[in-house]
Amino acid sequence: MDVIEAMKTRRTIRRFKQGTVPREVLLEMADCARLAPSAANLQPLKYIVIDDPKTVKELYGGVKLGSYLKGSEVIGGDDGERPSAYIAVLFKETGVPWSLRDIGASVQNMLLAAHSRGFAACWIANVKREQVKSLLRIPDDVQLDCMVAVGIPAEKSAPVEMKDSSLYYYEKPLNLRVPKRKLEDIVFFNSFGEKTF
Ligand SMILES: Cc1cc2nc3c(=O)[nH]c(=O)nc-3n(C[C@H](O)[C@H](O)[C@H](O)COP(=O)(O)O)c2cc1C
Repeated sequence: MDVIEAMKTRRTIRRFKQGTVPREVLLEMADCARLAPSAANLQPLKYIVIDDPKTVKELYGGVKLGSYLKGSEVIGGDDGERPSAYIAVLFKETGVPWSLRDIGASVQNMLLAAHSRGFAACWIANVKREQVKSLLRIPDDVQLDCMVAVGIPAEKSAPVEMKDSSLYYYEKPLNLRVPKRKLEDIVFFNSFGEKTF
């Protein structure tokens, strides 16, 4: 899969088949994160790969999947559809405001790496930070920014043209639809507001 294909076909997945994500895949995700662009090249991020089944299970109560799902269904609540692993993204303050942007680049690299290896992932900001920090023994001076859930996909997701709402929804069970704005609504040529397509 080339990079363009990976970017176009990657989707957030929140329901997973039960099975192991090989540690090499998780490490490769972290390695791709390590190589992401970094403001002033300060590289303020560290990662905890969580693949021990007991800790993975304990972590589930500390993350929320699908907060902006239409109808606010609970996702992945069943034991049979939980992620197999997580990667916690840790940030240490640098004093350079742009450093926070590093997180986006590194997480996207991880999502694309998982996808290109046939696994699926969900970026999770909705984390009970105190609970998860204590479980993972993260020191007080290190911020837990977000988590990435990783697993074997048990659902499919596809983009649809966004109409009145950005809320994602299930068209059928296990068929997620994600509204995306049209290209011509977000791209201008040469000056603001100028559309030539
Ligand atoms: C910064 C950020 C935080 C997110 N946090 C969550 C989250 O807490 N729970 C969740 O289920 N999805 C979360 N997502 C995933 C988004 O819901 C998802 O990217 C969006 O619905 C678009 O779907 P797509 O990734 O398939 O394009 C997050 C995405 C981003 C960029």
